[in-house]
Amino acid sequence: MYTQKMLRDGALQGKTIVVTGGGSGLGKAMSKYFLELGANVAITSRNLDKLKATAEELEQDTKGSCLPLQCDVRNYDEVETMLKQAVEKYGKVDVLLNNAAGNFISPTERLSANAFDTIIDIVLKGTKNCTLAFGKHWIDTKQTNTSVLNIVTTYAWTGSAYVVPSATAKAGVLAMTRSLAVEWAKYGMRFNAIAPGPFPTKGAWDRLLPGDLKDKFDMAKKVPLNRVGDHQELANLAAYLVSDFSAYVNGEVITIDGGEWLKGAGQFNLLEEIPEEMWDQLEAMIRAKKSKS
Ligand code: HXC
Ligand code: NAP
Repeated sequence: MYTQKMLRDGALQGKTIVVTGGGSGLGKAMSKYFLELGANVAITSRNLDKLKATAEELEQDTKGSCLPLQCDVRNYDEVETMLKQAVEKYGKVDVLLNNAAGNFISPTERLSANAFDTIIDIVLKGTKNCTLAFGKHWIDTKQTNTSVLNIVTTYAWTGSAYVVPSATAKAGVLAMTRSLAVEWAKYGMRFNAIAPGPFPTKGAWDRLLPGDLKDKFDMAKKVPLNRVGDHQELANLAAYLVSDFSAYVNGEVITIDGGEWLKGAGQFNLLEEIPEEMWDQLEAMIRAKKSKS
C-alpha cells in the first residue's frame, strides 16, 4: 500500500472548500489533507459538537483554518445559511464536496416509506440542495474556476440489493454530476465524482456490517487487491480532483476500489477458485473437444 501524500505543499492555497459530512470518516480524512495543502475548509453536518471537536483537532494537526458549521443538508434554508456563513468567513467558496450520506442495510420490504425517504432525502435531495445553492451563488456572483465533487459508490451504476434507497439516490447523484458537467461548464464550474470501494469508517461499518457481520463478510476478500482502501488514498484522489491540476477533468466518475466491482461483474471471475494444478487437466479437455469438432 502506498500512502504518501500526493500533491506538493500549498497546492490548494487560496481555495476554500466546503465538505458536507466533514466531521467524521472519509469527510474528515479528505478535509485534513485539504488543510495540509493550504485550503480553508468548512466542515458541515447536523452535529455541531462533533464538528467543533473535529475542527479543533484538524486545526491543531495542520495549522490550517477549519470552520465548523451546523447544517442538515435536507433543509434548503439551512444550506443557504451555511453557504452564507462560509462566504462571510473566507470571502468566497471555490469547491463543494458533497460527502454527507445516510445508509443502512435492510431487506427493502422491511422499510417504511419514511425510512426510504430518509436516505433519498440525505443523499439525493441533500446533494441537490447544496449543488443548487452553491451553483446559483457562483452564477450570480460570476465566480469561475469552481467545482463540485460528489462522493458516490460503485453500486450507483450496478445497483445493489439490501441498500436500495442508497443505490437509488447515488445513481441520481451520478446523473446530476454528468448532467451539470455539461450544462454549467459555461459558468466555469466542473463536476466530478468519486466512487469508493470499501474504506472502513465507523459510520459505514456500524450500519452496513453490524455485530459480527464484519467478521463473516471480510470486505478485503471481495477485492482483487485483497485489501480495503486507506483513507489517504482517497484523500489523494479527492485533492487532485478539487485542485487546478484536474482543470480538464469534467463529468468523470473515478472508481477507487481495488477492482472490487469488476470482480463481482465479470462472468468467469469465479474461476479464480480453480487450483493451479487443475488447469492442465482443463486445458487438455478443451483441446480434445476442439480437435474433434
Ligand atoms: C429499518 C430503519 C433503520 C433500520 C432507521 N430506520 N434505521 N428502518 N432498518 N436499521 C427508519 C426509522 O424507523 C424511520 O422510519 C426512518 O428510518 C428514519 O429514521 P431516523 O432515525 O428518524 O432518521 P435520522 O435520525 O434522520 O437518521 C438517519 C439514518 C442514520 C440514515 C437512519 O443512520 C444516520 O444518521 N446516518 C448518517 C450516517 C451514515 O448513515 N453513514 C453511513 C454512510 S455509508 P419510521 O417509519 O419509523 O419513521 C454509505 C455507502 C457505503 O453511504 C458503501 C460501502 C461500501
Ligand atoms: P460517515 O462517517 O457516517 O459520514 C457520513 C457523514 O454525513 C457524517 O459526518 C454525518 O454527520 C453526515 N450526515 C448524515 N446525514 C446528514 C444530514 N442530513 N445533513 C448533513 N450531514 C449529514 O461515513 P463515511 O463512510 O465517511 O461516508 C462518507 C461518504 O463516503 C458517503 O457519501 C458514503 O456514501 C461514501 N462512501 C463510503 C464508503 C466507505 O466504505 N466508507 C464507500 C463508498 C462510499 P452527522 O451525523 O453529524 O450529521
